[in-house]
Amino acid sequence: MTITKELFGNIDEETPVYLYTLKNANGCEARITEYGGILVSLTVPDRTGKPGDVVLGFNSLDEYLKGHPYFGAIVGRYGNRIAKGRFTLDGDTYTLAANNNENHLHGGLKGFDKVVWQSAIIEGEDGQTLALSYLSKDGEEGYPGNLAVKVIYTLSNDNELKIDYEATTDKATVVNLTNHSYFNLAGDGAGAILGHEVILNADRFLPVDAGLIPTGELRPVRGTPFDFTQPSTIGARIDLDTEQLRFGLGYDHCFVLGGEGSSVSLAASVYEPTTGRVMEMYTDQPAVQFYTGNFLDGSTVGKGGTAYEHRYGFCLETQHFPDSPNRAHFPSTVLRPGETYSSHTSYKFSIR
Ligand code: GLA
Repeated sequence: MTITKELFGNIDEETPVYLYTLKNANGCEARITEYGGILVSLTVPDRTGKPGDVVLGFNSLDEYLKGHPYFGAIVGRYGNRIAKGRFTLDGDTYTLAANNNENHLHGGLKGFDKVVWQSAIIEGEDGQTLALSYLSKDGEEGYPGNLAVKVIYTLSNDNELKIDYEATTDKATVVNLTNHSYFNLAGDGAGAILGHEVILNADRFLPVDAGLIPTGELRPVRGTPFDFTQPSTIGARIDLDTEQLRFGLGYDHCFVLGGEGSSVSLAASVYEPTTGRVMEMYTDQPAVQFYTGNFLDGSTVGKGGTAYEHRYGFCLETQHFPDSPNRAHFPSTVLRPGETYSSHTSYKFSIR
């Protein structure tokens, strides 16, 4: 694997932002920028061998700076929602931005998706990897503790994009990191993702209230439109008139993964019948937010010049449960000094 570096744009005169291109031996390519740690493009072959970009995004830094719904970005310090932007830890109450109606979403007004990460190319055993790091200051976006974060992107020769996250703190805090890529295995801008066949190795999901905050229940998927334990197209049940699909405007829910402790296992598998592309997702995280691009409305025009209409991409955001800081019975997202947060997710591509 080799990595090249070029200028992507400038935030201001002192802040150039670079773009890295990771290439493997099969010609697969991932482009990642220091701004937000964003995965800008990911090119993998279809069943005829033709390469295609399978993630949504833009060609220029300026377009990312104008604002977008977290395309390809690293999300933190806390991915997804914290109810009413408030939580209590060790007796102290912390107030965060209410940037999603009355709730806190994806780390706040300027989350990890909007900061410039430090970057370095690391020589590893199997070639080069891209290391991004960021120091989130004590009090930034209301969170306690200086949090040192590192994210490593690796593109392996078996067409697997691996993302490894690590963080340490000097004061107790909460951490929940993820990557917010929007996939379309038929190709970026190729249309709605309703024909993709999805398997999720999740036998429970978290029902939400109208503000998309989990109610606290872990509900079995069996017999509901949330059962993806057998392959089902995204579109088969997405518009059924049930309360949970109404609240989510489709799928925008946290699925509970069975994986024990920290072992990495297959969490999801997605197949796109027209191109034959398959994406398998492996993770050690306790959950995945399955989001079907329900808020996309055609107002942003992407890399290929097409407007991203309703449901033109889907996300599989591996993470802890939303609102865990306020839910004692959810797996803990607390990180204390001396501990290391670590999380691993990979997206592996093949054809069928
Ligand atoms: C996550 C959330 C969604 C939405 C998107 C970004 O997937 O769960 O509700 O906020 O991010 O638009």
